[in-house]
Amino acid sequence: MSDLFQPFQLGPITLANRVVMAPLTRSRAEAGNVPGPLTVEYYTQRATIGLIIAEATQVSATAQGYPNTPGLHTAEQVAGWRKVTDAVHAQGGKIFVQLWHVGRMSHTAYQPDGQAPVAPSAIAAKAKTFVPGQGMVDCSTPRALETAEIAGVVNDFRTAARNAIDAGFDGVEIHGAHGYLMKEVDPPALLEATLSIASLDLGTLAPSDPQRDEVQAWRTLALRELVPADLELDLNVSRLLGLPLAIDDAAT
Ligand SMILES: Cc1cc2nc3c(=O)[nH]c(=O)nc-3n(C[C@H](O)[C@H](O)[C@H](O)COP(=O)(O)O)c2cc1C
Repeated sequence: MSDLFQPFQLGPITLANRVVMAPLTRSRAEAGNVPGPLTVEYYTQRATIGLIIAEATQVSATAQGYPNTPGLHTAEQVAGWRKVTDAVHAQGGKIFVQLWHVGRMSHTAYQPDGQAPVAPSAIAAKAKTFVPGQGMVDCSTPRALETAEIAGVVNDFRTAARNAIDAGFDGVEIHGAHGYLMKEVDPPALLEATLSIASLDLGTLAPSDPQRDEVQAWRTLALRELVPADLELDLNVSRLLGLPLAIDDAAT
């Protein structure tokens, strides 16, 4: 316990202490999914934590699956996050952003022009999401990504990671859990960005199966390619969930 409040060297980053705040979706972004004053206040209140991992943040307009979640793909969103990181840094804190593409864990209400969400395959998640005015509704059946679209998704992550630098973040966490797109893609295919994204059903592998670790290692390597070298990277591969958000998570 005595070490908890001692500084910690995380790669090139010195944390004031060893307390890390888990990413927590707040659904408080303003119009255009821009982080506003409430978001600045929320993270500033927590800036004495050694490292904040900010809430899941969209890499593109198709990446959203919940109301008022922030993005990092428009100039306004970058500017909004810059106010957050400046405020956290002013208090000596460090802050990563968590990047996500929710894949099939979405609803047409969140997609451009009300289209179907995109996913590795056209299989609906047995899950619900909240849509204002409708309440909790089933996730929509997604459309399978075309091979030619994969490079675009990869590029969305790359661009968002670069935007993270402009927004002043100290690092990036990729949301690779809970049935979102980065949990479900085939990492070598992602790395090459040319092959079809194949659904890798980790739920069919026993929790002790070493192939799970291999898959996650591949995924981490692939994602490292997407994130600039001067940004720290980590990966949330949690399968421990309070909510059964996806079939494969619920089964493990
Ligand atoms: C309201 C709420 C929002 C969450 N948002 C995110 C999120 O944006 N990204 C993420 O990776 N995990 C998210 N989580 C999961 C938490 O970060 C954490 O992993 C989970 O609560 C389990 O932590 P515990 O084992 O310490 O309870 C969220 C959890 C809750 C309850």
